[in-house]
Amino acid sequence: MKTYRIAIIKGDGIGPEIVREAQKVLNAVSQIEHFSIQYQEYLMGGCAYDACKNPLPEETIQGCLQADGILFGAIGGNKWDYLPRELRPESGLLRLRKALEIFANIRPVVVFDELLEASTLKPEIIRGVDLVVVRELIGGIYFGEPKGKDEKHAYNTMIYTRDEIKRIAKVAFELALNRKKKLCSVDKANVLDVSLLWREVVTEVGKDYPQVSLTHQYVDNASMQLILNPKQFDVILTGNLFGDILSDEASMLTGSIGLLPSASTGGKAALYEPIHGSAPDIAGLGIANPIATILSASMMLKNTFKETKAASMIEKAISKTLQEGYRTKDIAAFGAKEICSTTQMGDLIVKFLQ
Ligand code: IPM
Ligand code: MG
Repeated sequence: MKTYRIAIIKGDGIGPEIVREAQKVLNAVSQIEHFSIQYQEYLMGGCAYDACKNPLPEETIQGCLQADGILFGAIGGNKWDYLPRELRPESGLLRLRKALEIFANIRPVVVFDELLEASTLKPEIIRGVDLVVVRELIGGIYFGEPKGKDEKHAYNTMIYTRDEIKRIAKVAFELALNRKKKLCSVDKANVLDVSLLWREVVTEVGKDYPQVSLTHQYVDNASMQLILNPKQFDVILTGNLFGDILSDEASMLTGSIGLLPSASTGGKAALYEPIHGSAPDIAGLGIANPIATILSASMMLKNTFKETKAASMIEKAISKTLQEGYRTKDIAAFGAKEICSTTQMGDLIVKFLQ
């Protein structure tokens, strides 16, 4: 029997609650599909700081490097806001991404028909939305040097090398090839030099993909277009900061940020996580939506383990659960027959597998 070793990083806030549900679903699907999973838990974020004064213990990096896949919940909370930047929970995640060299962050945005009413946008605008944000994850202004802050100034550097742009562009073009063959690269080339290079390199890479139609949008326009007419997009390629912002915005097309999974790949490991944060305000209340994390687990099955059947079983089970009218609180007001807790949502998805 095939065995997959998954590194589990539950993190802070609602992290442990949502990851637990994803593991429940993984376990159930592994029994049906006859593979086995070994989990090893690691600390990262605020909980790691509390335990060992380090948001990213070396053991976590090593564990992730050895695992076949990494499932991560969420990190952060105001409890740790007083700490200097390098000790804060977020820097644990940023350092892990860097250490694993996972430069390609893939964030699919798919609108469930059952949840058309859950979005603040009109159903006719979002029905059938199916796009992917490809975000460069270990460069740009998040990591650029020099940076600094003193009493009078503070600054960061938005920097990209030709090679960094090239490798993320390739990922996006490959993805587009297997989809609707449309790629929109988002930058701010009317103002930023770094975006001029971005546009130049993406255009160059595009020459190797004549089947893919390439367009460019400025990020301010793109953020408007996402709301105006999201169906124009297939693959959106962009840098670290713009991708962070646009993917949160895009999540609202689906009705809740609690629905969006992500994969971070291209490096020494593959990390899967919901795009949302640790939601400390609802942590422990049992109302968090576990679907984004469960979908992240399903992406791991599909992309990293090539267990496509198991992955699509999970996706179908989620659709079925929503069709039957079950909703967590964040998506509740719309067509809800029954409002369920985090745990009940996990149980229902397990029930509807197959
Ligand atoms: C995300 C998050 C992170 C980011 C934070 C928690 C550092 O917002 O994954 O989108 O900005 O990348
Ligand atoms: Mg974000």
